[in-house]
Amino acid sequence: MADQQYVSDELLAYVRAVSLREDDVLRQLREETVALPAGTSLQVMAEEGQFLALLVGLTGGRRVLDVGTYTGYSALCMARALARGGRVITCELHQRWADIGAPYWKRAGVADRIDLRIGHAADTLEKLLAEYGPGSFDLVFIDADKQNYPVYYELSLALVREGGLVVADNTLFFGRVVDPADPDPQVAAVRELNTRLLEDDRVDISLLPVADGVTLARKRPTAGCNRVA
Ligand SMILES: C[S@@+](CC[C@H](N)C(=O)[O-])C[C@H]1O[C@@H](n2cnc3c(N)ncnc32)[C@H](O)[C@@H]1O
Repeated sequence: MADQQYVSDELLAYVRAVSLREDDVLRQLREETVALPAGTSLQVMAEEGQFLALLVGLTGGRRVLDVGTYTGYSALCMARALARGGRVITCELHQRWADIGAPYWKRAGVADRIDLRIGHAADTLEKLLAEYGPGSFDLVFIDADKQNYPVYYELSLALVREGGLVVADNTLFFGRVVDPADPDPQVAAVRELNTRLLEDDRVDISLLPVADGVTLARKRPTAGCNRVA
């Protein structure tokens, strides 16, 4: 039986060489972002962006929510994977970060598929719930401030349709989730979400120990069919 592999730099380079399909627009956005003070730790890894695009395709995503735009790498990956006529709504607190990504969205030809909402994400999600109603999104990707992860999760689960996906990033939080005594409220919030998800019978879950931890939560149909026991 195989066990979890340690991903050395060499192995990661191999994974990228055989599977990453990052084009010039994405690569240049990533490179511009990496040069920012916290660029590397905030932006999703390139392979995670590609994985998000695959998930959008698998869910037939027409309405997708991106919580935490930053310079827009995840928004761009998901916008490209939308079904015809689809839209990514992306939430960010600071306009200046999204301003860096916007020209890349335009170059990729998807600017008209990305709807940027500036403000606190919790307020934006509440407004979206009022605007579109419950169950109106195919996929939500949560990647904003960690203290609010439990709040974002509940709102996202209300927004996503049955069979749709809530994807949460950084659910291993740099490996710090293993320490219950870690005083950082971000760690406590991520630990709270992880624990809550295990008990949450509204969703099927998988915590993938890739990148900084990516959790998939698929909203179960209320009728109970198609459930994974
Ligand atoms: C980890 S980065 C997102 C990275 C992005 N998904 C990508 O692929 O590049 C988190 C972003 O969430 C934003 N943010 C933090 N708190 C927020 C809040 N309360 N509401 C909306 N955005 C917030 C930050 O400004 C930051 O740009």
